[in-house]
Amino acid sequence: MKRLLLSLAILLISAMAFAGEGMWIPMLLQHNEKEMQEMGMRITAEDIYSINHSSLKDAIVLFGGGCTGEIVSDYGLLLTNHHCGYDYIQQHSSVEHDYLTDGFWAMDRSQELPCPGLTVIFLREMRDVTDKVTFNVNDDIEETERQRLIDENIKKLVADVEKTTDYKVFVKPYFLGNEYYLLLNEEYTDVRLVGCPPSNIGKFGGDTDNWVWPRHTGDFSVFRVYANKDGHPADYNPDNVPYKPAKHLEISLKGAEEGDFAFVFGYPARTSEYLPAVAVDQEANVIDPIAVKLRGEILDIYNTYQEQDKKVRIQYASKHAGLGNGWKKWMGVTEGINHFHGVEKKRFYEESFRQWCLESRGRIPYLHLLTDFEQKYKELEPYRVAYTYLTNAGLNIEIMSFAGYFNRLSQVTKETPQEEIDQMIVSLKKATAEFFKDYYQPIDEEVARTMLEEYLNHQPADFRPGFLNEIQDVNAYVDQLFNKSMFVNEEKVNKFLDNFKPSKAKKLQKDPALIAYQSMINFYREDINPPMSAINNDLSRMQRLYMKGQMLMEPEKRFSPDANFTLRVTYGKVQGFKPQDGKNYRHFTTLEGIMEKENPDIYDYVVEPKLKQLYNTKDYGRYADKDGTMHVAFTASVHTTGGNSGSPILNADGQLLGLNFDRCWEGTMSDLVYDPDICRNISVDIRYVLFIIDKFAGAKNLIAEMDIVE
Ligand code: ARG
Ligand code: ASP
Repeated sequence: MKRLLLSLAILLISAMAFAGEGMWIPMLLQHNEKEMQEMGMRITAEDIYSINHSSLKDAIVLFGGGCTGEIVSDYGLLLTNHHCGYDYIQQHSSVEHDYLTDGFWAMDRSQELPCPGLTVIFLREMRDVTDKVTFNVNDDIEETERQRLIDENIKKLVADVEKTTDYKVFVKPYFLGNEYYLLLNEEYTDVRLVGCPPSNIGKFGGDTDNWVWPRHTGDFSVFRVYANKDGHPADYNPDNVPYKPAKHLEISLKGAEEGDFAFVFGYPARTSEYLPAVAVDQEANVIDPIAVKLRGEILDIYNTYQEQDKKVRIQYASKHAGLGNGWKKWMGVTEGINHFHGVEKKRFYEESFRQWCLESRGRIPYLHLLTDFEQKYKELEPYRVAYTYLTNAGLNIEIMSFAGYFNRLSQVTKETPQEEIDQMIVSLKKATAEFFKDYYQPIDEEVARTMLEEYLNHQPADFRPGFLNEIQDVNAYVDQLFNKSMFVNEEKVNKFLDNFKPSKAKKLQKDPALIAYQSMINFYREDINPPMSAINNDLSRMQRLYMKGQMLMEPEKRFSPDANFTLRVTYGKVQGFKPQDGKNYRHFTTLEGIMEKENPDIYDYVVEPKLKQLYNTKDYGRYADKDGTMHVAFTASVHTTGGNSGSPILNADGQLLGLNFDRCWEGTMSDLVYDPDICRNISVDIRYVLFIIDKFAGAKNLIAEMDIVE
């Protein structure tokens, strides 16, 4: 019976684990090659990752530390998402040159714009160094000591390898610390903005459509990597030359049909696929709903005021996007986990794990893990909840988090060197200008009232910052907060900074906004962080063991390590999906849909006149699909997460089909539990990208240097 249960469970899990699920390590891809080829791939694992000759990996970069980009010409031309290039586009935007609104196109290389601070990183090689990192540790060593030994081993290893190479050397844990890989990276620091569409193409649908299918966003921007004359990394210099890559991507104009093989090559940031059921349940049914509720209330307040006033709409656009991205995603996580029985599936699997443990004495160390997980996560829960309130309710009161910038200045004494004070004043003056540019007090007052009510009604006294426990009446507190604090008045703040002397630090210490901020920070440092770190320390040991146990239980299974911001290959099929009974989503959208959504009165749905004109004359050139329409975006069952934005999605021949930029919110649970029926990534069709570059922007110079396969 036990055996039967075990094999049944494994069968079920394996059936769940669709052929291509997982984020695979490029250097080990030969283990997936057969499956990928059976699914339709016509190239080899060696074509994707090789250290002996050029391979697709030489065209993929970590872009700006948070996204993925890919090289598409022999002259270092790079594609990524519009939302990945956003900050750099904004950096170059002013009232006279509003590149965010109007777009930007360099018609020759001299017009390309340097982007200080922007870097791209190429992975040159990776090596399995598990043995070297863990040779003197075992699971009996106390956790902090174990980590200390590992850190020491890594440091030594890195120092040794650094002597032999000019590349940057990193070691990262995989499989929750069961394996370690060394990465040799090359970082380029002269990266220039080449082009971007106007926001009503690059961000079409805005936050309204974010995480949602059907989607019509032309989410791309164009950059170029520069190198010195020898092709090596160099800081910006007008004499630098376009970087010549070992490999650039070919671009396919053929598009993709439903069911076609596709893969994504990029930098997924973080997934947690091997958590026990109790952790998934806590995430989806305790933590996420709290964050969603709190953020939802704040977003409602933003919306009300943003609708009333154009200036406020712009002031709060980026804040809205920031809060709204997580808010919508987490709603999808809860919905998806519950609707598709993520917790029950995990529990079923755990039962089989328990049975497996009982089969042999040697497996006893694993046996207690599941019970211990229940207890540890229960211990962790109130602290995680408290942390969620702190970050979502407390710190979203802008006057308090702004006051926090002045915390150091409030500690200044007569002994503090004047030079240090001067530096603080300069940076605080800058922060003050930035803060007030986008501050609207009526919003903040209402946020404060709502969030403090939430806090007091739902968090026990021990699990909230001290200042809250002195509040008798929220309205009266908020009134006096905004009446007495100087942090609502730009003039007062500037005057204070201009005339600052150490004796005036006292004034800051008495400011109610700063008092509230300090109370929150102390609460975190003293009451939340220490117990949370201790529990997490235990949990990381348990998770490592549980991972090891799972791998021992299914020795034949190929496991893929959780995402950790290193280069990965993920694959699946171009595919639509059925999110609900009666709803059936086609896998692609077209320009027709943009015209359907058009609404000149709603900011997110304004259509560029030039785009409309191209649509009316059906001037799509060679970028039209064979059905005659202009395809804009498409979905696929490829496992992706944050950080995969900007990643190339490639066809069976390794040619570029599009740029990954989002997921459908019904499947955002994929970070915890991947379900091939419901998890879909969204990409912008490369033919739409080329159409915009060529027909809309007329940047034929860029088209000419790309390698386009008809
Ligand atoms: N949801 C996508 C990703 O996490 C895109 C976010 C940017 N787009 C937006 N409309 N806010 O990160
Ligand atoms: N939009 C995400 C990103 O910016 C991708 C995702 O979460 O699917 O990386």
